[in-house]
Amino acid sequence: MTDLACVTINEARPQDAPAIATIHLTSRRRAMPYLRCPHTDDEARDYFARRVGNPPRVWWVLRHRGQVVAYMMLDGENLDHLYVSPFCQGQGFGSALLDRAKALSPGRLVLWTFQRNERARSFYEARGFRSIGRSDGDNEEGEPDMQYEWRKVP
Ligand SMILES: CC(C)(COP(=O)(O)OP(=O)(O)OC[C@H]1O[C@@H](n2cnc3c(N)ncnc32)[C@H](O)[C@@H]1OP(=O)(O)O)[C@@H](O)C(=O)NCCC(=O)NCCS
Repeated sequence: MTDLACVTINEARPQDAPAIATIHLTSRRRAMPYLRCPHTDDEARDYFARRVGNPPRVWWVLRHRGQVVAYMMLDGENLDHLYVSPFCQGQGFGSALLDRAKALSPGRLVLWTFQRNERARSFYEARGFRSIGRSDGDNEEGEPDMQYEWRKVP
């Protein structure tokens, strides 16, 4: 089991963008090999280089022993990204970031995930999220997705 005492979670700085881009590309490819890629890897890296560290969206990185191994992006109550390096999954890092998102939220979080991403769906459902909507693929990837919501218990 991973020692979560060696974990830090901080707001990302612009210089974290390359590590975030690598986690996004590798984690997504491993978890969802069927997904259509609407952008090249270079376009994705450029996107992160321009966005990370720029408000109002807030990017967070989880470091384990100083290495960035996971990240998330919060925009108010919208959790738009949560990705763990494929080499570091199943060790509690995703849960640690999600706990931080809940603590930072105004009492509610919403997110979209692809319907075929069963691991992510059971991950969120086991952590108090419930499905509140779905689309037939109204997104860049043309892939059916689902919207989930979490509300803080008063
Ligand atoms: C979905 C995802 C974010 C989950 O992150 P993770 O770090 O693998 O998740 P955790 O390790 O916190 O928890 C996953 C499982 O590991 C177990 N676990 C938790 N802490 C653990 C630890 N310290 N050691 C070993 N196992 C642990 C948990 O039991 C959990 O199982 P459960 O869901 O059946 O309860 C991650 O798998 C991922 O990045 N997937 C690909 C990208 C993706 O789909 N992102 C979501 C887009 S919406």
